[in-house]
Amino acid sequence: MLKNDLLLRAAKGQEVERAPVWLMRQAGRILPEYRATRAKAKNFVEFVKTPELAAEVTIQPVDILGVDAAIIFSDILVIPEAMGLPYEMIEAKGPRFPETIQTQADINKLKIAEASDLDYVMKALQLTKKNLDNRVPLIGFCGAPWTLFAYMIEGSGSKTFSKAKQFLYTHPDLSHQLLEKITQSSINYLKGQVASGADLLQIFDSWAGVLSEKMYYEFSLSYISKICDALSPLVPVTVFAKDAHYAVKKISETSCHSIGLDWTIDPLKARKEAGNKTLQGNADPCLLYASEKAIIEETHNMLRSFGKDKYICNLGHGLYPDLDKEKVKLFVDVVKEFKW
Ligand code: CP3
Repeated sequence: MLKNDLLLRAAKGQEVERAPVWLMRQAGRILPEYRATRAKAKNFVEFVKTPELAAEVTIQPVDILGVDAAIIFSDILVIPEAMGLPYEMIEAKGPRFPETIQTQADINKLKIAEASDLDYVMKALQLTKKNLDNRVPLIGFCGAPWTLFAYMIEGSGSKTFSKAKQFLYTHPDLSHQLLEKITQSSINYLKGQVASGADLLQIFDSWAGVLSEKMYYEFSLSYISKICDALSPLVPVTVFAKDAHYAVKKISETSCHSIGLDWTIDPLKARKEAGNKTLQGNADPCLLYASEKAIIEETHNMLRSFGKDKYICNLGHGLYPDLDKEKVKLFVDVVKEFKW
C-alpha cells in the first residue's frame, strides 16, 4: 500500500535499499510554512486542536524536506489535558500547568483518558493519512508516563525536575498510582492512533536523564514496557529515552522494535547493547549549525557506524527553531544519496 515503506521495514529489521530518514520536530518553526499556518490559530493549544491545521503542518516536511515519514503534529501534553489537567504553552518559554498534582485526591480526580477524549488527534491522523496518499508512513506518538508525570507534578519545564523527583522519593505509592493512570490513558490513546492511521509509534521519554538508573527502571521503563506490550503486536514501536544511554540494553529487553538514541552514546556501543533491535538517531542537532563540509562528513561517519540495516537515521533530539532550513535539507539529502 505505502509507496515508501523504508521506515517500516527498517523498524521491523527487514532489509532496505538505504536507511530511512526523518527528524524529530520536523514539523516546526524552522519552516516558514509552519509559522504561516501556526499564525492562523489563536494559540498553540488551539492549533493542536484544529485537525485541518495539524494535518497541514504534518505534511509540510514531507513536501519541503523530503523526509521518509510524517509525524503527526500534536504534543505529548494532550494526555494530561484529556485526564483533566489542562496545559498552556507560553510563547518562547514552554508549557505550563495552571494546576498540578500534589495529593491522593488530585490523583483520584484524574480520569483514565479514552481515545474518544482525543478526537481532534484522531481526526488529524485520519485527515493526514488521506492527504498523504500513502506516500510515506505516518508516525503517531505519546510521552512516556514518567515524562508526563514530571510535567504534571512540576507544573512546567525544569532543568532538574526536582519537585517531580521529590514526589517519587516521598510518595512512591502515589507515584505508582499516577504513573499507572497515565499508562492506561496512553495505551487507549495509542490504540486510537493506530485505528486512525498511525503506521508506527514513538514513545518520547524526554526527561529520562534526570533519574538515577535504578529509579529509571522502577518509575519509567516498567511503564514504557507495558505500553510496548499493548501496542507492539499492532505496529512497530520506538522508545526514545533521552540521556539514558545506560538503559539501551534494558530497553532492548522490552517488546519495542526500535530504540531512539541521543548523541551522547556511540553508535557501535549502542549496537552491542541493543541485541537485534533497530536503532534510531543520533546526530547532535547542533551539527546542523556547522559548515556544509562538516555536516556531510559527520553524517557519512554516522551512517557508516550504524550500517544500512536495522537503522533509522534521525537527530538525537528535536530540531532547534533557529536552524537553517537549507542545512536541514542538506542533512536529509546526504542520507538519501549515500552509497551503501
Ligand atoms: O514534528 C514533530 O516532532 C511532531 C510534533 C511534536 C511537538 N511536540 C510539536 C511542538 C512532538 C513529537 C512533540 C513532543 C513533545 N512536546 C515533547 C517530547 C519531545 C522532546 O522534544 O523532547 C516534549 C517534551 C513536549 C513538550 C513541549 N512542547 C515543550 C517543552 C515545548 C516548548 C519547546 C519549544 O520549542 O518552544 C513544546 C511546544 C511545541 N511542541 C512546539 C512544537 C512544534 C513549538 C511551539 C511553537 O510552535 O511555538
